[in-house]
Amino acid sequence: MRSFPPYRAQVVAEIPVTTRAERERALAAAGYNAFNLPARMVTIDLLTDSGTGAVSTAQEAAAAAADRSYAGSDSFFRFREALSELTHYPHILPVHQGRAAERVLFTSVLRAGQISVSNTHFDTTRANVELLGAEARDLPCAEFGDLDSLEPFKGNINLDRLEQLLTGPEADRVGMVLVTITNNGGGGQPVSMANLAAASRLARAHGVPIFLDAARFAENAWLVVQREEGYAGKTPRAVAEEAFGLVDGAVASLKKDGISPMGAFIGLTDPELAQRCETNLIATEGFRTYGGLGAHDLDRVAKGLHEVLDPHYLEARADEAARLAQAANDAGVDIVQPPGIHALYLNAGRLLPHLPASRFPGHSLACELYLEGGIRCVELGSLYLGTLDENNELVTPAPFELVRIALPRRVYSQGHYEYVAEVLGDIAKNPDRVPGYRIVDAPKILRHFNLRMAPVS
Ligand code: F0G
Repeated sequence: MRSFPPYRAQVVAEIPVTTRAERERALAAAGYNAFNLPARMVTIDLLTDSGTGAVSTAQEAAAAAADRSYAGSDSFFRFREALSELTHYPHILPVHQGRAAERVLFTSVLRAGQISVSNTHFDTTRANVELLGAEARDLPCAEFGDLDSLEPFKGNINLDRLEQLLTGPEADRVGMVLVTITNNGGGGQPVSMANLAAASRLARAHGVPIFLDAARFAENAWLVVQREEGYAGKTPRAVAEEAFGLVDGAVASLKKDGISPMGAFIGLTDPELAQRCETNLIATEGFRTYGGLGAHDLDRVAKGLHEVLDPHYLEARADEAARLAQAANDAGVDIVQPPGIHALYLNAGRLLPHLPASRFPGHSLACELYLEGGIRCVELGSLYLGTLDENNELVTPAPFELVRIALPRRVYSQGHYEYVAEVLGDIAKNPDRVPGYRIVDAPKILRHFNLRMAPVS
């Protein structure tokens, strides 16, 4: 690998250094839930790649010159132009963040009792479908079931099952198809252009609208260029444009590949649907030329959307993830293969075989990363996806016990990731001493954000 990041640090922020005893106290006070930890107690924050990217000098210069007019601000026109060039959608609405874009679009598209079909709905996406009384149904491809296989597009939607649904007895209930690129809930794996095109043909043949959840559109495009036949040598921008062109519209959080602290958009081809979304947006988020966003973030997005498609940037970021994946493997920790870009998914179930699913091995590994090294990350296993009984005991485990370590854009360097790999290696030397956890208290919806846990010795 001969890539290097095409930027250098110009302003830096100090990160907290803590002792093990301080971390033990902080985690206990947080109810063993990383979402409750104060950030000042976290040394390396790999909880999310969302809104955590480092902004460029060009973004900050544009933000300083932003136009805060309520209606028709220049910042909005720059935002819209960047997104029109990329998506070619005639209707672009700014929204403050991805889940708000989902709410506005879904309210205008779905009715109670209908089904939203996806490769995998992200958690807030699922919640926004369910809050409307609709059903969120995930149809991930079969290849995702083998965490170790090197299949290049394990984020794909299962086309056979999609067709069965669209031609079967429930066909009338299908309200929309939503393809998440890359598939964050499914190991951060990419979706191929062939799969997206086929899903789109199926949806259109049955009169069902199809949208992208395009939060990581640039990273998906990069993996298509690397992995899909017929795409080598294309620019990530050309691939991303093609992806947007295959569907009826998109929602996207711009806190990821917009490299902005805040922001999202809804892009649509259908003027009538766009009109309904705009009315909802104005009533609930903000006027159509800011949608709940500060003008500075409209401008940060306009720049960020160009910076994120720089092939040198994408290559360096993908290589950074691949190097960390290799270092984790060398340290004795398996990850979901092949590594994607925005996050690595550690196979905690395999590393901690002494812990049954009911003791939440993914959560145990996430806690251990914090206690051992001040590293914050999040479980994606039975705690997040399993079903619980009324006493909060696990009834149905998740298919996998994973931990996601997300990689903020342009924030950490090789030295930080070497440290992460060393901490992983130290845990992997004595996995038996990692304790399991039990749930003390858990809310019914979006429980992982608010639950409290306790270690079981
Ligand atoms: N869709 C996907 C695929 C996401 O990953 C996220 C957020 C959203 C929608 C919602 O966007 O946060 O701007 O409201 N993912 C973050 C994460 C939170 O950590 O994966 P948002």
